[in-house]
Amino acid sequence: MGSCKKYLFAWFNFFMVLMAMVATAKRIMRHGNIGIKVDGPWEDAHATFYGDMSGSETMQGACGYGDLIKQGYGLETAALSTALFNNGSTCGACFEIICVNDPQWCIKGAGSIKITATNFCPPNYSKPNENWCNPPLKHFDLSMPMFVKLAPMKAGIIPVNFRRTPCTKQGGVKFEVKGNPYWIMVLVYNVGGVGDVSAVRIKGEKTDWLPMSRNWGQNWNIGTPLVGQSLSFQVTTSDGKMLQLDNVAPANWQFGQNFEGRSNF
Ligand SMILES: *[C@@H]1O[C@H](CO)[C@@H](O)[C@H](O)[C@H]1NC(C)=O
Ligand SMILES: *[C@@H]1O[C@H](CO)[C@@H](O)[C@H](O)[C@H]1NC(C)=O
Repeated sequence: MGSCKKYLFAWFNFFMVLMAMVATAKRIMRHGNIGIKVDGPWEDAHATFYGDMSGSETMQGACGYGDLIKQGYGLETAALSTALFNNGSTCGACFEIICVNDPQWCIKGAGSIKITATNFCPPNYSKPNENWCNPPLKHFDLSMPMFVKLAPMKAGIIPVNFRRTPCTKQGGVKFEVKGNPYWIMVLVYNVGGVGDVSAVRIKGEKTDWLPMSRNWGQNWNIGTPLVGQSLSFQVTTSDGKMLQLDNVAPANWQFGQNFEGRSNF
């Protein structure tokens, strides 16, 4: 090779490496870099069900959501064991679940189900057995309508594989404003993308951006009087993506009202 060709070759290599780095950076920016792998490798767990086919027992729950039907989650939900619940920070995350390694109970060709984490399956340390939700076990206590898609009810408990999956939500991120004039609590729901909110900031029209604290599940609170001011939000999900939603609530918002942001993750 002549030296001119060598130089060209070196530049070409440099260029290719640069392009690869740019592609990686773009991928990181798109999917986040805080270690949440959506559609990553499957992991082992078990699944049971709670409540009946009406799903009424799945309403409310430890994530702080209310009427899951009205809020768009439907009955496609589960309560997570301690190991998965993460003290509420996993609330709103979506999982794909498939029945595996149980030829007796797994319904053939059932495929996978997708659920949103809306509740906590509490551990019970005094029970002698069947403590599926005790640490360190990874366990999904599904709504009954979701369980019977994978196995008949009488199976009781089934081995499953699971992985995080993107949350498909309609419309914008939604906010329910609760509390009193001196203490506001906001439920953040209908969150797309990875689904689990890790930080929330609020801004009244006369304030700066103020960080809110996680109260429980996906309820976030702040002790700043914001009555009479339009409200904007910055919502960050566990993959590090932040979405700013301006003027979500008008200045005449009332406690107990729900508001929808103009976009979603
Ligand atoms: C869970 O969250 C609550 C409320 O934020 C906090 O008081 C508690 O210490 C947390 N528990 C663990 C195990 O992180
Ligand atoms: C835990 O298990 C014990 C023994 O089976 C039972 O009596 C108790 O009600 C359970 N506690 C809860 C909170 O479910």
